[in-house]
Amino acid sequence: MRKTAIVTGGSRGIGFAIARQLMMDGYSVAILDINSPSDYRHNLDQLAEMGEDAFLYVQGDVRCAQDREHLIKETVDKFGGIHVLVNNAGIAPRVRRDLLEMTEESFDEVIATNTKGPLFLTQLVVKQMLKQGFCGKKRGTIVNISSLSAEVSSINRGEYCISKAGLSMLTTLLADRLAPEGILVHEVRPGIIATDMTMPVKAKYDALFEQGLLPINRWGTPEDIANAVSALVSDKFLYTTGCYVNVDGGLHIKRL
Ligand SMILES: NC(=O)c1ccc[n+]([C@@H]2O[C@H](COP(=O)([O-])OP(=O)(O)OC[C@H]3O[C@@H](n4cnc5c(N)ncnc54)[C@H](O)[C@@H]3O)[C@@H](O)[C@H]2O)c1
Repeated sequence: MRKTAIVTGGSRGIGFAIARQLMMDGYSVAILDINSPSDYRHNLDQLAEMGEDAFLYVQGDVRCAQDREHLIKETVDKFGGIHVLVNNAGIAPRVRRDLLEMTEESFDEVIATNTKGPLFLTQLVVKQMLKQGFCGKKRGTIVNISSLSAEVSSINRGEYCISKAGLSMLTTLLADRLAPEGILVHEVRPGIIATDMTMPVKAKYDALFEQGLLPINRWGTPEDIANAVSALVSDKFLYTTGCYVNVDGGLHIKRL
C-alpha cells in the first residue's frame, strides 16, 4: 500500500525538498502552503510529474483552523489516509529587533505559524491516524522541523527562538502521548540552510564561513534536511521517539 505524507510549507525551500524526497521514497504527498500554486509553479510541476495521482497541493494557512480541516479532508478524500506529517512551514520575524523592542504583533504571528498551527494540525492528523490501523510496523510518524534556535540564543529574533523551543517541547509531549498508539515523533534541527528564508542574511553567513564557522564548513542544503526526514520516517528508527537530530554541520558543538 502506498503511504501518504503531509508536508506543510512544501512549495519551496526545505519543505519542497522533503516533499520531493518522500515522493521518491514512494509516498503520496499532500502539501499545505500559503502560497498560490502559481508562485512556485516550476517546483509543483516537478512534483506532479513524479506522479499526478500521488500529489496534492492545498493552498492554505497553517494558522487557520478551517484551512487545516480542509487539508485533512482533501488528503483523506484523495489518498484514503495519512501516515506521515512533516510540520515544516515556518517564518522568521518580518523585522529583526532587539529583544527589548520585540512587538506583540510579531510575537503572535511567529508563534501562531511556528508553534500553534503545527500543534492543532497535528491534533487533526493524529485523530485521523487513530481511525486507521497500523501500516507496517507503526501507525504513523510525525516530524517537526524546528531549528538550532530551539536552544541557541539570538537576541534580535527572540520570538523565533521561543517558537522553536515550543515546537521542541511539542515533540516531547507528542512522543510521550502517542508512543502507545504506535505513532512515533521526531524533530530535526536545521542549522544554516541555503533557502529564501536565509537569503537576507547571506552575506553575513558567507563571511562567517570564510572564518571557519562550522566543523563541516559550508551552507546546509534543503536536501540535507530532506535526507534526515526520509530516514526518520522509514522503519530504521522504530525504537526511537521524542529525539532531535541536529542537521547543522556541527554548529551545536562547543569549540575552543
Ligand atoms: N533555512 C534555514 O536556515 C532554517 C534553519 C533552521 C530552521 N529552519 C526551518 O525550516 C522550515 C523551512 O524553512 P525554509 O528555509 O525552507 O523557509 P522558506 O521561507 O523558504 O519556506 C517556508 C515555506 O513555508 C510556507 N509558509 C509560511 N507561512 C505559512 C503558513 N502560515 N501556512 C502555510 N505555509 C506557510 C511558505 O510559503 C514557504 O513555502 C521553517 O520551519 C524554518 O523555521 C530553516
